[in-house]
Amino acid sequence: MKHLLKLLDWTSEDINEVLNLADQLKYEQKHHIAKKYLEGKTLGMIFEKASTRTRVSFEVGMFQLGGSALFLSSNNTQIGRGEPVQDTARVLSRYLDGIMIRTFEQSEVEALAQYGSIPIINGLTDFCHPCQVLADLMTIREIKGRLDGLKMSFIGDGNNMMNSLIVGALKSGMSISVACPENYEPDERVTEFAKEFGDKFQMFRTPKEAVVDSDVVITDVWASMGQEEEAQIRVKAFDGYQINDELMSLAKEDAIVLHCLPAHRGEEITAEVFENHADEIFEEAENRLHAQKAVMVYLMKD
Ligand code: CP
Ligand code: NVA
Repeated sequence: MKHLLKLLDWTSEDINEVLNLADQLKYEQKHHIAKKYLEGKTLGMIFEKASTRTRVSFEVGMFQLGGSALFLSSNNTQIGRGEPVQDTARVLSRYLDGIMIRTFEQSEVEALAQYGSIPIINGLTDFCHPCQVLADLMTIREIKGRLDGLKMSFIGDGNNMMNSLIVGALKSGMSISVACPENYEPDERVTEFAKEFGDKFQMFRTPKEAVVDSDVVITDVWASMGQEEEAQIRVKAFDGYQINDELMSLAKEDAIVLHCLPAHRGEEITAEVFENHADEIFEEAENRLHAQKAVMVYLMKD
């Protein structure tokens, strides 16, 4: 059985197939010729962290595919009271056809897949955010017409987004340069993986070095969910890691800017750069819907 636990588990072919399917589903939805690929199926959506885009796009996506989605907040289920994930997995597998989970530990997502018997989709952990990165790759390909040979740069925290972008970009034939302060580097599992790709992956301390000649420039918040108490320390640590006009002047002239949202204007990105690239950023947000519908069809269709 296939899951989407992290992009490290997927082949380049898996990614490409889902991106093609996402384009097809977007076309079908826009032209009112959408088919009910998941009629009668139910997706459980476990949320142990907040969400706007992930929750709405999965729920609407499942509805558009002819199925239904159940919102399961950890506050109102036994998950929040400590019922072991091994048991939750075996119970929910008997009611549902797939589970999307947003939580802290990657190990919880892996355990759901190990003990359950239905496809599991990672809707964000502290380690990675694969659904977001599939939507990002879809958006880049839509705007630039290809992925292979393009250069992406990511400025900021070595967080779930940076981890998934490194893997997704390299598996799609892109090169990626990141810039992060000391002690905020991406996960070692990711840098180990990236070694196979030689100088297609580069890590810098200064944003200027990373952004040179980029086709795509990406950032994310400096304090992720669960790190709110460190927010002030992080604002200091990331001083100088802002995407602003001066930095963008070093990227290619037709470079696009992406941000998974929510964005903190004046911190990781200026309001000017954000608004100049709002069309791309909100297309990216829309593409969460199409890319996740593709993931669900890929994993859950009979
Ligand atoms: N980008 C993203 O995952 O947004 P939400 O936290 O609103 O789901
Ligand atoms: N890095 C952010 C992404 C939010 C979609 C977080 O984990 O909060």
